[in-house]
Amino acid sequence: MKSNNHYFFGGVDTVELAKKHETPLYVLSEDIILENINTLKKCFIDKYDNVKVLYASKAFLSVAMAQIIGREGLGIDVVSGGELFTVMKAGFNPKEIFFHGNNKTQKELEMAIDYDIGQIVVDNLYELELLIEILKKENKTQDVLLRLSPGLTNIDTHEYIITGQRDTKFGFQIDESLKNDIIPRILSEDRLDLKGFHYHIGSQLFDNETYLNAFKLIFDLIEWTKNNYNYSTEILNIGGGFGIPYHEDIQPLDIEKILSEIMDTIEKEFKQANMTRPQVIIEPGRWIIGPAGITIYKIGAVKSIEGIRTYAAVDGGMSDNIRPSLYNALYSADIANKYNQEKTHIYTIAGKACESGDILVKDINLPEIETGDYLIVHTTGAYNFSMASNYNRMLIPAVVLVSKGKERVIVKRQTYEDIIGRDISL
Ligand SMILES: Cc1ncc(COP(=O)(O)O)c(C=O)c1O
Repeated sequence: MKSNNHYFFGGVDTVELAKKHETPLYVLSEDIILENINTLKKCFIDKYDNVKVLYASKAFLSVAMAQIIGREGLGIDVVSGGELFTVMKAGFNPKEIFFHGNNKTQKELEMAIDYDIGQIVVDNLYELELLIEILKKENKTQDVLLRLSPGLTNIDTHEYIITGQRDTKFGFQIDESLKNDIIPRILSEDRLDLKGFHYHIGSQLFDNETYLNAFKLIFDLIEWTKNNYNYSTEILNIGGGFGIPYHEDIQPLDIEKILSEIMDTIEKEFKQANMTRPQVIIEPGRWIIGPAGITIYKIGAVKSIEGIRTYAAVDGGMSDNIRPSLYNALYSADIANKYNQEKTHIYTIAGKACESGDILVKDINLPEIETGDYLIVHTTGAYNFSMASNYNRMLIPAVVLVSKGKERVIVKRQTYEDIIGRDISL
């Protein structure tokens, strides 16, 4: 939204936000989060029987975020003790928590069992044995899903965010050992109740073919377990990964179309095989929270290198948004205090970390920049705050939630005292 040449987000003037809360500053729009959740309700939850949406909390998590997700009736996926602890502190219904991850520690598994969470998604044989041992010790039982690697060969996204290929650290390979040793081992184990299967093929996907191909491979296994062990899968969790446009040139994904194609295929296959369709779960993270976030920075040094480029440096960078340096992620940006001005200059936006690779946006058209201007990087809701670090002892920014012209801080900005809070002086 535009007004007085300032960029407004969630009805709030971002220049005023920057002045009030300091920069860098993460801003999340509750209105966009709710709009995205409502779209999922309309085109998935309310449209089909026996389906569920889990929010993949790794994309962005704080106590307030978990509370929004709980209030909206979604489940949640966690992958670590820290995420689990946060979600529990937010008062989340433990039965709606699914615990993922390729190397859950004994402590994390004990925590999950103590909290009585809904599902543990077992990733490997080591974890399976460890889980059984803990359950025996605590005299408890646990519902589980098995994480599978579909072994796809052609997934169109960055290699760092592919997970569904054969060469992966995630999940069980679908092979003879799974079929003849692991599945019967789980089925015969009194402490475990195998509810079904899970896979997640990758992130930032736009191509539905990958989802459909993965499902077909998993369906073969579901059919095989039915025929060989008379085992009926109750839950099929097909993961997240739905892509979002980080850039004007990228077309948004038609989530309704994608989900209806996936559901049509799933329903058809189960019907043809004369089997009851299990509960279908999706677990989007980025799709819900990514477009709901922006980051505001203040511009400091502006440096022109004759015939090469002009750098404009901001007061944050790879410590609050690692994605451009990690896997060349593209972002779009605007000058918050010159929003309606013509974009006459080309800049490269540099972070302030001591790494040449700390570049947030390369060669972007913007109005002429002056020191003291505020830069907005768009679509930073997912995997920015959650991947933030204290590299160079930079402070992790605050998070402000905006909605209909109102704002509230949901994560306080770190302080220098926080930075040394765990240091022990000699
Ligand atoms: C198991 C699992 N589910 C869901 C997600 C969420 O992915 P996205 O944020 O791309 O939807 C991930 C991301 O890594 C994942 O590993």
